[in-house]
Amino acid sequence: MSPRDAHRDRVLILDYGSQYTQLIARRIREQRVYCEIQPPTLDADAVRAWKPAGIILSGGPSSVLDADAPQIDPAIFELDLPMLCVCYGLQLLAHHLGGLVEPADEREYGPAELSIEREDPIFDGLGERQRRTVWMSHGDKVQRLPSEFGVLATSEGSPFAAVRHRDKPIYGLQFHPEVIHTDGGERILANFVHGICGCTASWTMEAFIEEAVEKIRVQVGNAPVVCGLSGGVDSAVAAALVHRAVGDQLTCIFVDNGLLREGERQEVESTFRQALGIRLLTNDASSRFVQALAGVIDPEEKRRIIGHLFIEVFEHEAERLDDARFLVQGTLYPDVIESVSVRGPAATIKSHHNVGGLPEVMKLELVEPLRELFKDEVREVGRNLGLPETVVGRHPFPGPGLAVRIVGEITPERLATLRRADAVVTEEIRRGGVYESLWQAFAVFLPVQSVGVMGDSRTYENVIAVRAVTSVDAMTADWARLPGDVLAAISSRIINEVKGVNRVVYDISSKPPSTIEWE
Ligand code: XMP
Repeated sequence: MSPRDAHRDRVLILDYGSQYTQLIARRIREQRVYCEIQPPTLDADAVRAWKPAGIILSGGPSSVLDADAPQIDPAIFELDLPMLCVCYGLQLLAHHLGGLVEPADEREYGPAELSIEREDPIFDGLGERQRRTVWMSHGDKVQRLPSEFGVLATSEGSPFAAVRHRDKPIYGLQFHPEVIHTDGGERILANFVHGICGCTASWTMEAFIEEAVEKIRVQVGNAPVVCGLSGGVDSAVAAALVHRAVGDQLTCIFVDNGLLREGERQEVESTFRQALGIRLLTNDASSRFVQALAGVIDPEEKRRIIGHLFIEVFEHEAERLDDARFLVQGTLYPDVIESVSVRGPAATIKSHHNVGGLPEVMKLELVEPLRELFKDEVREVGRNLGLPETVVGRHPFPGPGLAVRIVGEITPERLATLRRADAVVTEEIRRGGVYESLWQAFAVFLPVQSVGVMGDSRTYENVIAVRAVTSVDAMTADWARLPGDVLAAISSRIINEVKGVNRVVYDISSKPPSTIEWE
């Protein structure tokens, strides 16, 4: 039994489908408390068996008044566990415990001023100020509280902005404490998990690594293990963790598909071979990929070709290893949650985001040591394992690489142009000190000729689009307000240094409706 099972230092989040549910989980993890997101169909017995120190009900887009709205097993309110019921959670509480919920005249969305009416441990440490800004987002409204509940705080639009059971630590919040716009929200969540649930800050990445190493050893025994490196953070950290557990039983395979960023292959080779001493096989299959992609324009067709060829090359490399039985994959918690949430798997907008199919084809058992972690936790684990900042702090990069950043046909010339332009974008973003604040920043090759002048002659050359976005999880993203001088440096350097480009444009579209990648 792991330490966190034994200590019950963990919190259960029932997901009613809010876009903020993952954010609640991340905020709790930041308090060094382990938590998991589960579907709201869990009954009281299942909840008890999970042994949480407390329960959080998330917000959600439904109305408790709808016949098919996600519900709660009312026996959960009788478990004598601390509960924090957020937004839709508060409405469920009111609905099930004898209060009254009705549609509001107007949806309340955005900042509101919270007025704290009564002292309570949930507000500990918030200071003297009685008024603070919180973030609201709800359609229905609690009109009458269940009789055992009292008001802790109000806002102009919500007389029951924060409520609590008279004797039990069951709380309801109409606002969202997990959202950064809620002033003091982090403190409220910390008070709940530490003060009210009594959880200690035991979820550290050092403890995680220790536990994960044990689990990996038990799972793989003495068998050889393979891991495909992509150059990205997740596979790098997964490999380093498995290497910590089983040393030379691990062999990593890196396929150079010719669609990588400038210097990427050399960086992977030096980090893994030299710095970490991990056994690494590389296969330069770049010309095969580029040939296979010749004349292909459709983005999904590009992905399909790259996916298949990757499996073929990877398998060929893996055959050189004696009977590998395990395959390491850097699956993260958000991928796991997608399949359990109330919404079901999110609609597939692009065919796949990771090259799947390998384990089935090769009949390998998966080792997924990062399944419980969020991206920021993965980075912390990577740092703890001694991976350099250039690897752990790296922006995500799509599996199909530069192929989905060349709009239209892929040619060796276009790849060379894009690679150089992309390197300039990264260099200038780093020089401007904004790399860490961005989710991704990159160049896109547009096969559009436009007219320019260079010296006395007229040019007719290609366009490079620069894309830089901020995001927390890539589900939504905003275009980054890059400083003007960073944009100016990117533009003048690309036009001066990259042959075949005479125009640079900046992409000012947000997701949705645009996607982060252009293809
Ligand atoms: P979009 O373009 O869908 O991208 O807004 C969201 C995130 O996913 C990455 N992405 C991919 N990753 N294979 C991958 O491994 C893919 O085919 C793929 N397409 C997009 C993208 O870089 C962004 O971080």
